[in-house]
Amino acid sequence: MTTDTAAQAAYVVAALLFILSLAGLSQHKTSRSGVVWGIAGMVVALAATVGLASRSITTTGLVLIAVATAAGAGIGLWRARVVEMTGMPELIAIMHSLVGLAAAFVGWNGYLDVDAELSGSLLAIHHAEVFIGVFIGAVTFTGSVVAYLKLSARINSRPLTLPGKHVLNIGALVAFVGLTAAFVARPGMGLLIAVTVIALALGAHLVASIGGGDMPVVVSMLNSYSGWAAAASGFLLANNLLIVTGALVGSSGAYLSYIMCKAMNRSFISVIAGGFGTPAAAAEEGEQGEHREINAEETAELLGNATSVIITPGYGMAVAQAQYPVAELARKLRERGVEVRFGIHPVAGRLPGHMNVLLAEANVPYDIVLEMDEINDDFAATSVVLVIGANDTVNPAATDNPTSPIAGMPVLHVWESSNVIVFKRSMAAGYAGVQNPLFFRENTQMLFGDAKQRVEDILRGLDALDTPVPAMAGTSR
Ligand code: TAP
Repeated sequence: MTTDTAAQAAYVVAALLFILSLAGLSQHKTSRSGVVWGIAGMVVALAATVGLASRSITTTGLVLIAVATAAGAGIGLWRARVVEMTGMPELIAIMHSLVGLAAAFVGWNGYLDVDAELSGSLLAIHHAEVFIGVFIGAVTFTGSVVAYLKLSARINSRPLTLPGKHVLNIGALVAFVGLTAAFVARPGMGLLIAVTVIALALGAHLVASIGGGDMPVVVSMLNSYSGWAAAASGFLLANNLLIVTGALVGSSGAYLSYIMCKAMNRSFISVIAGGFGTPAAAAEEGEQGEHREINAEETAELLGNATSVIITPGYGMAVAQAQYPVAELARKLRERGVEVRFGIHPVAGRLPGHMNVLLAEANVPYDIVLEMDEINDDFAATSVVLVIGANDTVNPAATDNPTSPIAGMPVLHVWESSNVIVFKRSMAAGYAGVQNPLFFRENTQMLFGDAKQRVEDILRGLDALDTPVPAMAGTSR
């Protein structure tokens, strides 16, 4: 077998491993094996690519590849080890930016180093690939950098609304089509520089125009763009595996974005077009009435007498790292015969599946962790709901205030239960910057403080409920 045949066979194996990985990652129970399949696929792919490359490059080239691989793997391992779960979206965004940058460089390299054997229509196709690759890569690069800056709160997450923003976006796309035709007919560096600059500006503008509430969709859209950018590089490098892998990432990212748009009642087209049609309503500032407070002992007593409890965790549970005491609380209540379930909003936290990962880490059984659609009708028959560090995902304004910036986003109907206890540190707004009328409802009580400490206090309160109070001296005869 020649090196080329062996490498192509290895590419098929790697592509199958990537498909197995995606299938594994689609369910919590199989997600760990999904990660292992993905790692195996990447090892096979790297080995085959280096094997292929070794036929045509010098020893110095191979050493450079080894150094780059070791440096990349080292940085990747280090970042993955130190990143907090709450920092994952930023990490993903910055990694997408690198994929975009690499695709843009591959495109530029394809222009500067044209295969001398190409001519006629094959050369025209090559130049079209160069142009499209540079465009998608550059859009992905700056779009991801802006997403990183917004997610890490280094810039304001409010949408940028330049006058005529949609005309600007459409103008950039029309210019891209025109420049592509011109470049294919007569390739020149000036045209390639022009499309690079337009794409860099378009990527930054598209993501800057999107408000904080829609950022989850943007992250998965950029994931999709980075896949298409990799596929474009695959065409340029005549690398079948890169084409297949890029298409897998591109289509799965697009599908995830579609699911998330449905979950948030957002138009898919409007989000990818930079917030097209996003309601321009102002966020309601300030408090909207009186709020009531409760302490941990009172909460423990309420829970001790409850028949059913639903816990709806959000970003604050991740910040407080409260998942372990929360899991313990669920276990203790179930031991007392209380029905305990978790209600998970699709965009609770800061990345898809964020809450599921944390609860799985704390060994909460999968069968009591339900999706929003599975549990939303059950709140009305529930004694107590514990809202642990969630805010936007339990905001009734989304359902009953058409002028709210989050109007139309499906939310957990926690307010329908008899008692709602909200765990947070202050009356501050959530990620979308919108005040939450839930906090001022008759059946809501605020339990202020760090969520982990408050849940631990409740655990002690529950223990105290079970401890018989010793009779006081002299009171019994
Ligand atoms: P958020 O609306 O972000 O609210 C989190 C709440 O947790 C805040 O009100 C905060 O209030 C509280 N909190 C923070 N630290 C805490 C601590 N140590 N102890 C107790 N409470 C604490 O949460 P959510 O309901 O999960 O909604 C998620 C939001 O993020 C949505 O708007 C969503 O669109 C957006 N988003 C989601 C994703 C994905 S894919 N999930 C990605 C990016 C953005 P205090 O400061 O008063 O404590």
